[in-house]
Order: sequence, then C-alpha cells, then structure tokens
Amino acid sequence: MSLNNAQQPSVQHAFFVTGTDTEVGKTFVSCALLAACRDIGLSTAAYKPISAGCERTTLGLRNEDALQLQLASSLVLDYDEVNPIAFEKPIAPHLACAKKVASGDGTFIELHDINLGYQHLVDKQSDVLLVEGAGGWRLPLGKNSEGYEQYLSDFAVAHKLAVILVVGMRLGCVNHALLTAQAIEQDGLIVVGWVANMLEPDMPFLEENIQSLQNLLQAPLLGRVPRASAPEDVKACFGLQALGLIT
Ligand SMILES: Nc1ncnc2c1ncn2[C@@H]1O[C@H](COP(=O)(O)OP(=O)(O)OP(=O)(O)O)[C@@H](O)[C@H]1O
Ligand SMILES: [Mg+2]
Repeated sequence: MSLNNAQQPSVQHAFFVTGTDTEVGKTFVSCALLAACRDIGLSTAAYKPISAGCERTTLGLRNEDALQLQLASSLVLDYDEVNPIAFEKPIAPHLACAKKVASGDGTFIELHDINLGYQHLVDKQSDVLLVEGAGGWRLPLGKNSEGYEQYLSDFAVAHKLAVILVVGMRLGCVNHALLTAQAIEQDGLIVVGWVANMLEPDMPFLEENIQSLQNLLQAPLLGRVPRASAPEDVKACFGLQALGLIT
C-alpha cells in the first residue's frame, strides 16, 4: 500500500522511538506500533542500530530487542540488517565499545556505519521504518576514529527523524519526559507523539500524571498502553492519525 502519490517512489514514514529511560517499554511499544501498522496494510521495517546485552549464538551475537523487532517487521530482514552493531555485555554501549577497543578486539563506533545501515533499510521502501534507540535520548556512542564525541541523537538529527517518546509511567516520569522533549526540540526535531506505557500495575495518581503530561508536552498523546502479555495485545491502543499514517 502506497502512502503517497503513485507516481513517486514510496517515501516512507520513518520514526525514531526514544524513551524517558532504559527499560521503559521502547521495544514493547515499537513492536505494538509495528503490529498496528501491519494491520492497516502498511509494510514495515525496524532498525535497532546499536544494542548491548546479547546472547552468543552459533549465528553470532543476538539481542532480544532486535530479535523482537525483526519478527515484528513485515519485511523479511536479516538480523544484521536490523541490528548491525551489537555488544555482548549489558552495559552502556560506549563503555562496552571502549573495553573492546582497549583489549584490541574491536573498533570505535562510527555514526557513518549507523547511517549506512539506515540508508540500506530506507532503500527497501517499506511504508513505515521504525528505529528504536537505546537507553534514553542522549545516548553516548563514545569517540569515533577521528576523536569526535558522538551520540545516538546525532543520527536522528542527521536524518531529521520524527520522534516518538515512550514515557514509562512511574514516579519521576514527568520530569524525565519534559527534559527529554526539551532536548529533542533543542536538537531541532519534532516529538510527533508520546506514549503512556503502564510500567507499574497500580501507579498512584496515574491519571493526574497523564493529565500533567498532556498539559505540559506539546506533542499529542498517541496512546495509553496497559500492561499486557504481548505487544500484539495492545496494538489497538494507538491513534495513528497523529503519525500521518491514516487520515
Ligand atoms: N505495557 C507493558 N506490558 C507488559 N510488559 C511490558 C510493557 N511495557 C514493557 N514491558 C516489559 O518491560 C520490560 C522493559 O520493556 P522494553 O524492553 O520494551 O524496554 P526498553 O525501553 O526497550 O528497554 P531498553 O532500554 O533495554 O531497550 C520488558 O520485559 C517488557 O516486556
Ligand atoms: Mg528496547
């Protein structure tokens, strides 16, 4: 299904999914969004450019987020297409990388490589291309081979990606959400929507917190995601109009 003028090559809708922190539901929400897009007939691809915390398998390092995103994409993608940079240790990627460089068993992370992997997926022309960040917005990647400090946010900025902010609903999330949205906007990008993900079954004053975020964030609330056993179960929670995916 083409979203655009049939004369033109399909210009896909690309989104960068970030969160108020690590473990707030970026992968869970991303997979649910991918399922929602598939349901309305859109082709989808996902990209997890960098992961830390992988299992060593006979096929190579495998990260659980990337495996889930690979499975949730409608395009058939190789693991390495979804997740080109993977570290075994579940620690901050720039530290995992530094350890490997110091032991002579690796090279610096290069934004250039992340861009190439992204362009490779863009060329596949799915209707939707969803990129899951790692950690929060300002994730350090360490210095590149030329000595420049890099951040994963630089990648999103370079491609002018529309940002979806996953807010893990728990005490402190309003501050984290506002600071994250401010940083994204100061970087020149737009938060096209935010998702209230219910991390805790019974968060006190949940409604009041959601209302505060609705008042204080400029971006629309895309959906409230309850606790569920699988992303598929919550795919109907989103208002896809705000993402320009349906009219
Ligand atoms: N709405 C939900 N219902 C049930 N479980 C959830 C929900 N949201 C997240 N989880 C669970 O919480 C954990 C963290 O979620 P997830 O892996 O999506 O976070 P993340 O932000 O992608 O983390 P990371 O920074 O490691 O990439 C996972 O075990 C996930 O299955
Ligand atoms: Mg994740």
